[in-house]
Amino acid sequence: MYLIILEGRLMKCALPQSIRRVLDVGSGPGDWALAMGEAYPNTEIIATDISLFDTESVGICPPNVSFQIDDAQEEWTFHEPFDFIHVRGLGGGVSDWSFFYQQTYQHLAPGGLIQVADCALIANDFSMPNSPPNSYLSIYLAAISSAAEVAGFPRSFDHFRPAALEAAGFTDIRVYDTHIPVGTWPEDPLEKTLGKMTLIVLFEGLEASSMRLLTKYLGWSADDVIDLCEKVQLEILNSEGMGGLVKILVARKPR
Ligand SMILES: C[S@@+](CC[C@H](N)C(=O)[O-])C[C@H]1O[C@@H](n2cnc3c(N)ncnc32)[C@H](O)[C@@H]1O
Repeated sequence: MYLIILEGRLMKCALPQSIRRVLDVGSGPGDWALAMGEAYPNTEIIATDISLFDTESVGICPPNVSFQIDDAQEEWTFHEPFDFIHVRGLGGGVSDWSFFYQQTYQHLAPGGLIQVADCALIANDFSMPNSPPNSYLSIYLAAISSAAEVAGFPRSFDHFRPAALEAAGFTDIRVYDTHIPVGTWPEDPLEKTLGKMTLIVLFEGLEASSMRLLTKYLGWSADDVIDLCEKVQLEILNSEGMGGLVKILVARKPR
């Protein structure tokens, strides 16, 4: 999905081949870190996550990529600075973004860059035709949002506010918004592929994104969550014009 949005590139900003160290925070199975390791063979890539993933099943790990278990909310203990810090899909995984940005700033070399990316579905987008006013999707999104508030890990785009990075000392802050389709409804072939990718991500992640939040923090039963997820899936399959928003932020630590 991100590769399509970034026209085949791994990041929005230009990075010279000479960069020495890169950190991928919340790397998941490491798709980005592994691709980065191949594209920048002379750069050390460190990928961190709170969960352990079996990277061997993803493919052969380039020798310049290593994986570490690390909670990005704890005090960072890296001994050498990074030239680039990549943060994708970490919305909902961090409770205190100002502390997070202070840490990234501290662990970047002067002139180093940070890129933060996240995506969210849009319910009831009235600019789109056939968007249902009280959709199951809007119920789902509202429930997730209030459960995440109760949990203390807000799911919002607040961490894309330039002020949040300015406060940590970052400059040259740029935020790029891309509206993406969900589903196979677009006519344009590239948009259709993007919509299909988003649909797959959504279908795979619907229950995983909501089960713990809604059962633990809002007291729903597991059956209620599954029932709502199925209704949202049906709604998305039958909708035309459903979409989402991808935000990509790039900022620099001054030299
Ligand atoms: C939506 S996935 C994104 C994975 C990857 N960055 C990508 O874009 O493909 C979010 C990842 O962040 C990890 N995560 C969540 N909270 C975290 C934290 N506080 N510190 C480190 N990783 C975290 C999760 O375990 C999960 O693997």
